[in-house]
Amino acid sequence: MCGIVGILGKNEVSPLILESLKRLEYRGYDSAGIATVNLGKLDRRRSVGKLLNLSDHLVSNPLSGKSGIGHTRWATHGAPTIVNSHPHQSGTSVAVVHNGIIENFNDLKSKLIAKGANFESETDTEVIAHLVHKFLESGMHPTDAVKETLPLLQGAFALCFLFSGEPDLMIAARQGSPLAIGYGNDEMFIGSDAIALSPLTNKISYLEEGDCAVIQRHSVKIFDQSDNLVERKINKIKPDQTRSSKDGFKHFMLKEIFEQPEALSRVITKYISADGKSITIKCSEMDLDKIEKITMVACGTAYLACATAKYWFEKFARIPVEVDIASEFRYREPPLTKDTLAIFVSQSGETADTLAALRYAKIHAKKVISIVNVSESSIARESDLAIPILAGPEISVASTKGFTNQLAVLAILALKIAAEQNQLSSPQLQTYLANLRYLPSLQNDVLDASPKIEKISRKLSKITNMLFLGRGVMHPLALEGALKLKEISYIHAEGFASGELKHGPIALIDNKVPVVVIAPTNDLFEKTISNMHEVMARDGKVIFVTDREGSEVASKGSWEIIEMPKITHLFAPIVYAIPMQLLAYYTAVTKGTDVDQPRNLAKSVTVE
Ligand code: G6P
Repeated sequence: MCGIVGILGKNEVSPLILESLKRLEYRGYDSAGIATVNLGKLDRRRSVGKLLNLSDHLVSNPLSGKSGIGHTRWATHGAPTIVNSHPHQSGTSVAVVHNGIIENFNDLKSKLIAKGANFESETDTEVIAHLVHKFLESGMHPTDAVKETLPLLQGAFALCFLFSGEPDLMIAARQGSPLAIGYGNDEMFIGSDAIALSPLTNKISYLEEGDCAVIQRHSVKIFDQSDNLVERKINKIKPDQTRSSKDGFKHFMLKEIFEQPEALSRVITKYISADGKSITIKCSEMDLDKIEKITMVACGTAYLACATAKYWFEKFARIPVEVDIASEFRYREPPLTKDTLAIFVSQSGETADTLAALRYAKIHAKKVISIVNVSESSIARESDLAIPILAGPEISVASTKGFTNQLAVLAILALKIAAEQNQLSSPQLQTYLANLRYLPSLQNDVLDASPKIEKISRKLSKITNMLFLGRGVMHPLALEGALKLKEISYIHAEGFASGELKHGPIALIDNKVPVVVIAPTNDLFEKTISNMHEVMARDGKVIFVTDREGSEVASKGSWEIIEMPKITHLFAPIVYAIPMQLLAYYTAVTKGTDVDQPRNLAKSVTVE
């Protein structure tokens, strides 16, 4: 996590760096800082907490200079304090900002202390400043000092350096964490992603693993891992990669919840032919007809999208599917066969564990497909095929439209593979596609019911525990409902498969515990209702999420009912996700928590 910006500008850079950091704040908001070269000397300002604090600090303590680096922090080593905030310096010669973790920092730190270095922070980053400083002191040029330092560092990092006496020099390095260079006219930029740089330039190149870039206003020299001078392609950023505004909504999360019907329509229009008869995902080189196993890997909400899609792949394509959490998969070294398709799902496309898992699968699986929101991301670039989910920028830390669009793309991919494997007849395929095409309007119907959900949420703000139950394809959604509530309202919540209730979780139920029961009237309805009665018999407060028919036959004894449109088919989670999101959202608003930037979380998790 953490966001990095660097600018060699024509004018004062602090306001521009601050603006770019705002666009990176989704990466962390524990503290922030900026360093500049002003009249040949390094100067810096740092503040704890959100960027607003740094911005206020700069009003009373302006920071001059036409070259500078900035950072927004998600704390790993050391609490969010001023001394632990970036940029870090050693003496007055070098300032550095860092995204990632230096795993051998303790060892390096002990050696530096033994040689007389004084450390002011608890961070891993400060060792980098000390190492570079030591090489500079020995008479090296900044470029050589950085190049000597990089091989000493173990772990994942994106770095940007600034040097005193060098107002026309920034050095950037990437190993494991993303970094983009922006090309301007007589100006150059560095950023953790294209979104940070989009107001400054539309010309971007991405550093590759092991790259070190020596940047001046009129030149960029990129050296690869073996120190060869290399070229990296310059891309034009598309306007949809730019950060959007709240458009009158109170929070980005609410705006993004309400954007879902439009975002889902984009997926349907892009990946289903206009006549509704076929799927237009271009994947002829993926040999989908020869796949015998599927492995799906992701983190957080994206993992729960995979867990949902497992039902679809197995039902439609009759292919066995394993779903794994990326941080587990990457170290387990699971045996993958050459007939396995590996699918990686990531909104940001930068999640460190998912990327590492992908690199393992690239070697051992037949093909690697990624499902991403950011088409230029590392995960997309390293896949055999990247399928964009077309959700548009998702700013709120809690994923909403990202989740439902991931589900939609996975559903279409499951149907595509089923068709390639001759598991579906054309009429069957067309029926399923018709079901999908109808979903945006059903999502709209659910959004119309948001005042009712808001009213229910007001009753939840005082509770301390909550359970979510679902069966079959609704089981992962129960987990997602609980995750959303935890993330933004800080209420302890757990999701369970309804059938598992009596194997432990039922012990938690009393008259203080609301239990959300997700139960469309499908073939598992009766079973879920039996579990719901087990909850009611123990005084649990049931919030029953079902359609009219379900509510007519089984709502007696419920505490609250959220009535949904009738959807009996397997794609129901794409619509039933919305009441889960709204429940979490309105509960958090009632509690007064920071909805878009919940404590301790970040959106793009680039550390493991
Ligand atoms: C973080 C976010 C989650 C997200 C997860 C995976 O934990 O807070 O909302 O689901 O990362 O992110 P990805 O970008 O890989 O989908």
